[in-house]
Amino acid sequence: MTTLSRRDILQGAAAFSSIALLARPSIADTAFPVLRTTPATAQLAPAGYPATPVWAYATEATATVPGPEIRVTAGDRIQRRLVNDLPQATAVHWHGIRLENGMDGAAPLTQAPVPPGETFDYDFVAHDPGTYWYHSHNRSTEQVARGLAGPLIVEDREPWLGEPGAASRELVLMLDDWLLDGEAAIIEDRWDDLHAAAHGGRMGNTATVNGTAYPGLPVQPGERLRLRIINMATDRIMPLRLPDLSPRLIALDGHPVAPRDMETLVLGPAQRADVVIDIPADSSATRLLIDPGNGEWIELARFEAEGDALPGQASDVRPLPAWGTLAALDLENAQREPLLMEGGAMRGMIETRYQGETLGFRELTARGMVWALNGTANNLDAPMFRATVGQTVLMEMTNRSAFPHAIHLHGHHFEVLDRSGGLNRAGDIRDTVLIGADETVEIALVADNPGAWMLHCHMLSHQKSGMMGWFEVA
Ligand code: C2O
Ligand code: CU
Repeated sequence: MTTLSRRDILQGAAAFSSIALLARPSIADTAFPVLRTTPATAQLAPAGYPATPVWAYATEATATVPGPEIRVTAGDRIQRRLVNDLPQATAVHWHGIRLENGMDGAAPLTQAPVPPGETFDYDFVAHDPGTYWYHSHNRSTEQVARGLAGPLIVEDREPWLGEPGAASRELVLMLDDWLLDGEAAIIEDRWDDLHAAAHGGRMGNTATVNGTAYPGLPVQPGERLRLRIINMATDRIMPLRLPDLSPRLIALDGHPVAPRDMETLVLGPAQRADVVIDIPADSSATRLLIDPGNGEWIELARFEAEGDALPGQASDVRPLPAWGTLAALDLENAQREPLLMEGGAMRGMIETRYQGETLGFRELTARGMVWALNGTANNLDAPMFRATVGQTVLMEMTNRSAFPHAIHLHGHHFEVLDRSGGLNRAGDIRDTVLIGADETVEIALVADNPGAWMLHCHMLSHQKSGMMGWFEVA
């Protein structure tokens, strides 16, 4: 078995980028559409407040928050030239896409961050249909909080929209949580807020849907809609409800589920859900509600029905076409790997490895570390585990902290097993899983995508302050 050090990986990434440089088409060759990162402004807060300075993705000239929608059909190639016009290095991660390792954008593991003024060409095939998103994966606690995220929609090869029992139309809803001051500017001096990081993370005070606070979304009475809901917040878990809309869940993290009724949908950071709703024929306004954490359900967006009522739909919702691309688990011969989450306020850490040393609580916090995975904080030096290609891996994820975590594995999707905790249902396939305080959740995956893959908490404040590691498939 080969031992891959961090240096090898960085050198690998450097070698890779010089190949990309040689292969880079000339300026006249416009084969790769541009995805530019740039400072911009966006009207996030309600009318009457100033526009907010943000960092945004742009296609050509216009920068938007969230970034421009990328929409392809399953099996299509996605090609984008990242042009970095930010004052900081950046990289783009294509969250949930099972792509080749060098395109994963997981700086500094799979590529060096792209410095200001430089470019990087991303080129990969999106095999699996579903609702995904892309976001910055360098200094992401700051860069995602400043707005660097956008929707990535992979449509089914077989038609679903418009078929009997399916929706007639879809809406992508990117939900975000911003920490703004009284002038609607992003509060910038708290990127290293260890107090927040040791709790639930950086919590905002302004919620937006597609970059607008409390929008009204025009719909038709009687219409059946597919909502593609994406939680792009850095740290906020979003409990959501759609009262009077008979919501039925049809996919989680891009993967179809048998349509099922849902009352409350809990989306951790980076999680997605596709939900079918029926707009009533006879009422003019229905709402998407969020519980901001105090049990009061407040309005996040309004569906404003106008025009003639469409004929009602059959009550049964048409399931989405199956993926058919996930390898079958071999649980009998599974390689068992533990994932122990420790640290944070109320529990703390005892002795933890960090950058090759064993440190106590004070030394760790002095270096900005308050969390650990398997006894190591921010472990980029060595993989947490190695698996051979095709091996089934069963991970027992134990949360010994007082806070929930949203664990994300790059390059793979996994099945939630019977020990699924209070926030999951066994049998669901996901790429990010919520594990409640003091809960244990078991997941299993077929490690069939070769490379060095990050595994981290998607509460980005937790990731930054210790909850990050990686695994190797070779
Ligand atoms: Cu969505 Cu490692 O991230
Ligand atoms: Cu966490």
